[in-house]
Amino acid sequence: MNRLELDTSTPIWDRFFVVAPLVLIGTRDADGSLDLAPKHMAMPMGWQNYFGFVCSPSHGTCSNIERTGEFTVSYPRPSQILYSSLAALPRVDGHKPVLDVYDTFPASVVDGEFIDDAYLFLECRHHETFAGFGDNCLITGTVVAAQAEAGFLKSNDRDSAELIRDNPLLAYVSPGRFAEIGATHAFPFPANMKK
Ligand SMILES: Cc1cc2nc3c(=O)[nH]c(=O)nc-3n(C[C@H](O)[C@H](O)[C@H](O)COP(=O)(O)O)c2cc1C
Repeated sequence: MNRLELDTSTPIWDRFFVVAPLVLIGTRDADGSLDLAPKHMAMPMGWQNYFGFVCSPSHGTCSNIERTGEFTVSYPRPSQILYSSLAALPRVDGHKPVLDVYDTFPASVVDGEFIDDAYLFLECRHHETFAGFGDNCLITGTVVAAQAEAGFLKSNDRDSAELIRDNPLLAYVSPGRFAEIGATHAFPFPANMKK
């Protein structure tokens, strides 16, 4: 073993790689235009239909959700890596011009949009924002509607390994890398495990 001590007087997260999801959070800017922003610190909040992500209060996403009380979540496929990245570009004259070239479709319940070629689409109403994580906050929402691309849905008729091989998933390997996940294995759960 050769364990090295990490200095916790500064953020440690750029010193090693960890696996994370990558989603696009969709909100409405004050002028009604679409905003999409990539977030990798994002996950379900428990086993019920809650979703949360870490955001900087200085980001448009945060003020948009405070104002409108809703947001969308698109889970992009590996082929959308470039779109996912470009959505992080700063605004020019209060608008992210790159978003004009995205193909989007409207959410059904909340006032929002999704990117066309994602595979999972969540519509969320703002639940609660928790401040106090240094410069960041945790924004949570209740999932009030959801759609998924048919090929990505689990099914008793379809081997899960085969399903993921045919419909690979996108992982953000933080910091600064990504992976297309096609090869997976059944998790070796212990017998009698309870959720
Ligand atoms: C791969 C990637 C992952 C990111 N993850 C996060 C994140 O988890 N939380 C966050 O606040 N910003 C994250 N960002 C930065 C924001 O997406 C970026 O600052 C964006 O421009 C904010 O847009 P907004 O002002 O419209 O909210 C990430 C950027 C990239 C490229």
